[in-house]
Amino acid sequence: RFTPTPADRFSFGLWTVGWQGRDPFGDATRPALDPVESVQRLGELGAYGVTFHDDDLIPFGASDTERESHIKRFRQALDATGVVASMVTTNLFTHPVFKDGGFTANDRDIRRFALRKVLRNIDLAAELGAKTFVAWGGREGAESGGAKDVRLALDRMKEAFDLLGDYVTEQGYDLRFAIEPKPNEPRGDILLPTVGHALAFIERLERPELFGVNPEVGHEQMAGLNFPHGVAQALWSGKLYHIDLNGQNGIKYDQDLRFGAGDLRAAFWLVDLLESAGWDGTRHFDFKPPRTEDFDGVWASAAGCMRNYLILKERAASFRADPLVQEALRASRLDQLAEPTAADGVTALLADRTAYEDFDADAAGARGMAFEQLDQLAMDHLLGAR
Ligand code: GCO
Ligand code: MN
Ligand code: MN
Ligand code: MN
Repeated sequence: RFTPTPADRFSFGLWTVGWQGRDPFGDATRPALDPVESVQRLGELGAYGVTFHDDDLIPFGASDTERESHIKRFRQALDATGVVASMVTTNLFTHPVFKDGGFTANDRDIRRFALRKVLRNIDLAAELGAKTFVAWGGREGAESGGAKDVRLALDRMKEAFDLLGDYVTEQGYDLRFAIEPKPNEPRGDILLPTVGHALAFIERLERPELFGVNPEVGHEQMAGLNFPHGVAQALWSGKLYHIDLNGQNGIKYDQDLRFGAGDLRAAFWLVDLLESAGWDGTRHFDFKPPRTEDFDGVWASAAGCMRNYLILKERAASFRADPLVQEALRASRLDQLAEPTAADGVTALLADRTAYEDFDADAAGARGMAFEQLDQLAMDHLLGAR
């Protein structure tokens, strides 16, 4: 029970379990982890996939021969364990060259370098069979108003994504992009700060079908937003191409706690949403085992992410299957929400006196919605009291 298998499609970034615990105030508390060991351990824990930034696998500035040998070892580990490279992403934030961004750096030569780094990494993603390419623009932003002309920066962002869309199309790669929003950190303010901003931006691209979003639990919560609502809108738009699961306690720095820590109720509704929607993407964890932990703590934290997902999946299923819940949903008129409001059109609506002239707004205003009974049932199921 609650033991993950590859059929659950859980995946982890190399940078998650491999995080050494360096923060703005303190040095690393753990040694570096060999990507090959990460693949093996994650496979043993029951994960389906592994994801990485180019620099997680191949140190920045490595020679071509070093690069090939890192890729070869990694590929062998994937083949030996059956773990899949499910997503690839590019590091456009660690090296000082990216201090003012990659795609939207004011310096044109830096933007060209960033694009070349991404193009090279797209080739690697295709070579390893990844189907999703995440773009997190952590350094695309500013600390002060005059430093960035946001309209021009968005022109350059669009230019970059349009060029990448052309490239994967010309190469015939089966690869889609998932843009990851974040409101701030490391920049004071980051471009495309929320799921909503990213969804609107995507519609301005030349090949919008190649682009979706990669929402992260903590990132929307850092902006005080309801994560399941953002994910629901992404699903509604057909744009949930990837997801970063983790935990966050309210509006503060990006905590990247293990999934299930932080806002547990939001996690419950998120799992309920993904499972009810039948979303078929990988359940990807982007978390950081706290720097207090040794490697035993790291693997316990990774296992906890998957265990919590499976527990919440069971709790959400028991909530949906409970006859009392179904009754409570009807009492809250969720069945009516599924009905079109005026399917007969505006003429029929205007002709319907019961809709307006004879409508008793005071009586309708007095009707209770019964949401508290419904929510308590959810709470009971979440807490295992039902
Ligand atoms: C963060 C981000 C990153 C990105 C990753 C993918 O911690 O703020 O979530 O972890 O997801 O870099 O590009
Ligand atoms: Mn992330
Ligand atoms: Mn983070
Ligand atoms: Mn994060």
